[in-house]
Amino acid sequence: MKGFHFLVAFALLALASILASASDPGPLQDFCVAINDTRTGVFVNGKFCKDPKLAKPEDFFISGLNVPGNTSNQLGSKVTLINVDKIPGLNTLGISLARVDYAPYGLNPPHTHPRATEILTVVEGILYVGFVTSNPDNRFITKVLYPGDVFVFPVGLIHFQFNIGNTNAVAFSGLSSQNPGIITIGKAVFGSEPAINPDVLVKTFRLDKNIVNQLQSRLWPLNN
Ligand SMILES: *[C@@H]1O[C@H](CO)[C@@H](O)[C@H](O)[C@H]1NC(C)=O
Ligand SMILES: *[C@@H]1O[C@H](CO)[C@@H](O)[C@H](O)[C@H]1NC(C)=O
Repeated sequence: MKGFHFLVAFALLALASILASASDPGPLQDFCVAINDTRTGVFVNGKFCKDPKLAKPEDFFISGLNVPGNTSNQLGSKVTLINVDKIPGLNTLGISLARVDYAPYGLNPPHTHPRATEILTVVEGILYVGFVTSNPDNRFITKVLYPGDVFVFPVGLIHFQFNIGNTNAVAFSGLSSQNPGIITIGKAVFGSEPAINPDVLVKTFRLDKNIVNQLQSRLWPLNN
């Protein structure tokens, strides 16, 4: 009887630990609309896997990150992101890498990565960086970074980097997703397709409707 109780207790404990660790996998894209007809399904959460026996070194390789990105744009910055679309071997591994180039006074404007924490190191130049914590505090956590400095932008939080030196700057970032996603705040809010009803933005930002119209008719160039 004692042995039976022990077995039941053990089985319950095992079940509890399975239930405690069971969860949905994190989304690897913005959304994944369910369908019933598998013949028309082309995406899973992430990508389909190749037979491991057919994997080649090229599946895990890319070159060219020594080449500076072209910063000749309105922002004066360029992000070169190496994600699962560039290196298929990254599928399911939860990591990616970016090179960011900044012209003098170039800006990587406020944005968030919905699926990744970012860890950035400066190789060249001086960057004023920061992120803002979630509501209600909205604390601004900021730092000026020099070559060799490392800074973390926690997942989902709005952050930016601004080159405050009069030389070019270069940084490299690791991101904790094979597909971190980028939401650039200005473009997402004022440059969406189709446009958000201006009344929403008038009320949100307490702006004159003419200013909202101006902002919505502006081009919102991206740097990635
Ligand atoms: C998919 O199948 C479920 C269960 O049979 C059904 O309730 C649902 O309406 C179907 N959805 C579509 C889009 O066909
Ligand atoms: C950089 O981009 C600008 C603007 O698109 C273009 O005119 C210029 O030729 C590019 N420079 C290089 C080196 O590709």
